[in-house]
Amino acid sequence: MTASIDLQQLIADCADASPKEILKQAFAAFGDELWLSFSGAEDVVLLDMAWKINPQVKVFSLDTGRLHPETYQFIEKVREHYNISIEVLSPDAQQVQDLVREKGLFSFYKDGHSECCGVRKIAPLKRKLSTVKAWATGQRRDQSPGTRSNVAAVELDAAFSTAEQPLYKFNPLAQMSSEDVWTYIRMLELPYNSLHERGFISIGCEPCTRPVLPNQHEREGRWWWEEATQKECGLHAGNIITAQ
Ligand code: ADX
Ligand code: SF4
Repeated sequence: MTASIDLQQLIADCADASPKEILKQAFAAFGDELWLSFSGAEDVVLLDMAWKINPQVKVFSLDTGRLHPETYQFIEKVREHYNISIEVLSPDAQQVQDLVREKGLFSFYKDGHSECCGVRKIAPLKRKLSTVKAWATGQRRDQSPGTRSNVAAVELDAAFSTAEQPLYKFNPLAQMSSEDVWTYIRMLELPYNSLHERGFISIGCEPCTRPVLPNQHEREGRWWWEEATQKECGLHAGNIITAQ
């Protein structure tokens, strides 16, 4: 099915398409080889749309070991709600132990989040994506003026493709706004992470996420002690490559 992917054609087909149409294109091109990455936050909208097209949709979630209890509860709620299996990926135990022994449990506050994210998120993601032909994320352009304003509906993954194995990345919600997403969640009465009731918008790991104040951008609740413009953990490193 994926032997003859015409990326330019896919890009053209997805250019002005709705999120659901983009997902349909993704399933048409990749079928069961398409995986959704679910963060345990408002990207439940992506999962809902995909599940309605293909109830066998494949989903993975990166368990960094540092998520909020509410996020674990939510992942479980979603699993039961849709009656799907969610592949919950753990980091390599030895790598985590080495990092913690050497630098403690909160090294990211001192020397930045990239090392810990590298071990807890990027390495497991890389392992997963090396077995996958295409993935879909809940990234949106309005999530970060600095790094996501050009997020494409479909692209060749600039960070995880290899010369031998191209990896296609779909971002079906790219053009949706936060308001669109929340209207969808409310209208369809989808389950949501209870942290949203306490001022959290963008949700990542517990030590690296905090609620935002009125009129603060959602991204300001992530890695708040670091410089604002380049707040990506490496999951979407292609955004930084293309923004430079
Ligand atoms: S992050 O890179 O800053 O952490 P963000 O929280 O904005 O990403 O989420 C954007 C998209 O990245 C999500 O919709 C999801 O597809 C993917 N993603 C983020 N965190 C995870 C996670 N823990 N597991 C799986 N996918 C994730
Ligand atoms: Fe570590 Fe924070 Fe990155 Fe989570 S977000 S993997 S706790 S640095």
